Amino acid sequence: MHLPALLMLLGLLLSATALAESREDGLDPQRQAELETLLYQDCGSCHGMTLRGGLGPALPRDRMEGFSVEALAHIIQYGIPGSAMPGWKSLLSDEEARWLAEHLRTDNRLETLQQD
Ligand code: HEC
Repeated sequence: MHLPALLMLLGLLLSATALAESREDGLDPQRQAELETLLYQDCGSCHGMTLRGGLGPALPRDRMEGFSVEALAHIIQYGIPGSAMPGWKSLLSDEEARWLAEHLRTDNRLETLQQD
């Protein structure tokens, strides 16, 4: 490949990286909505559509607060070996796993199991 073409390619790659980084602290609203659907439907298939538990344990906000965002994101990405909890790494970026972890700790629709 000619050097100018190579440099151009490099430039493109760098701007793509910059673009990816500029979105680091905010997923676009559409992706956030998709992740929310994933949480209550896909995760919900085991943890219950309202996260009250099923095959997997309930995931109420007050208990999720006991985990760090990093710990929750790790569980989401890698699953829990030896259990039915699968890893989601092939479907979710690290940023998306962190978004879900944050959501579980702050916006989670199920505040507590003691609410009713
Ligand atoms: C196929 C069923 C299944 C699916 C789908 C599933 N989980 Fe799980 N999950 C489990 C099981 C079972 C456990 C408990 C594992 C254990 O510790 O024995 C678990 C544990 C967890 C825990 C730890 C809870 C605790 O109190 O220790 C979190 C957090 C979690 N799952 C989040 C998620 C999220 C977020 C998703 C969707 C991205 C998801 N899970 C999808 C089955 C599932």
